[in-house]
Amino acid sequence: MILMQIRPRRLRQDSGLRSLVRETRVMPEDLIYPLFIKAGEGIRDEIGSLPGCYHLSPDEMLLQEAEKIVEAGLKGVILFGLPADKDEVGSRAKADDGPVQKACRLLKREYPELYLITDVCLCAYTSHGHCGLVDNGEILNDKTLPHLAEMAVSHAESGADMVAPSDMMDGRVAAIREELDKNGYKDIPIMSYAAKYNSAFYGPFREAQGSSPTDGDRSSHQMDYANSREAMREVLLDEDEGADILMVKPALAYLDIIKDVREKTDLPVAAYNVSGEYSLVHAGSEAGLVNRWELQNEILTAIKRAGADLIITYAALEFANRFSEEYRKRDN
Ligand code: PBG
Repeated sequence: MILMQIRPRRLRQDSGLRSLVRETRVMPEDLIYPLFIKAGEGIRDEIGSLPGCYHLSPDEMLLQEAEKIVEAGLKGVILFGLPADKDEVGSRAKADDGPVQKACRLLKREYPELYLITDVCLCAYTSHGHCGLVDNGEILNDKTLPHLAEMAVSHAESGADMVAPSDMMDGRVAAIREELDKNGYKDIPIMSYAAKYNSAFYGPFREAQGSSPTDGDRSSHQMDYANSREAMREVLLDEDEGADILMVKPALAYLDIIKDVREKTDLPVAAYNVSGEYSLVHAGSEAGLVNRWELQNEILTAIKRAGADLIITYAALEFANRFSEEYRKRDN
């Protein structure tokens, strides 16, 4: 007969006590909300592949959404652009009147307290949908770098507070840092999508941003999901090149990578709870298989528990709204 003096269940008997010993808490200020800015006017269309998220034009439509975001208690957004037209080299990516540039100017003017991060990649702006310049099916790493750097500078000029390169070209963090500094933007941080995997979880996003490659795939630059040591190499290299925040993407199937990165660096670690992770939760709840809110909460908590300091998630707005409601309930 074992004498059971030690009973872990003692600490689980009461909800107040469970709350006192809880190790991880996700707060609205941990979360970054993605916004899809579509060239045009008067657009607020729900995105079929990302329920609850909208294509917004950089005008009153965007401002109305921004008001909700700020009121909900979120601190930051990340902007993705859908340009009016595309070409071989993605020239609209650095256009002063591009959707992201317009959105930055508008948001900075009306909601200066909202922190603006911009995604830097060519795939939504090139006619072939690749993340860089292409010649004969080959993605040209070094020739792409100046385009990314100019895109980043154009975002900074429009009022972006931080840039986030997601292209996975070698050397892009250094190239962007140099160009930002040269143009007087030495205080604009770079959040690098440092360990970005070639993932089937991006499906709903590519539909939302119209950024699928017309031929081929992203396996020549995004990482093989079978590898973890390679991720450490990528993140340490980005840190050396001057990245300020290191991101792991996707998040849910890559918690081991988040944990490893957390241990290897003292920089803040970001995790991207990507489109497939989000939309599958929705589809699962539509099918009556899971409780969407509970499952989404569990996922965000797991990502933070693994070591992420900040999380980019399509669930941010709903989370922040429900969070304050539940807080109010507790206060009464
Ligand atoms: C652009 C980019 C992608 C995502 C963020 N930036 C797509 C891709 O790399 O194909 C994916 C985000 C998501 O799935 O939520 N390069």
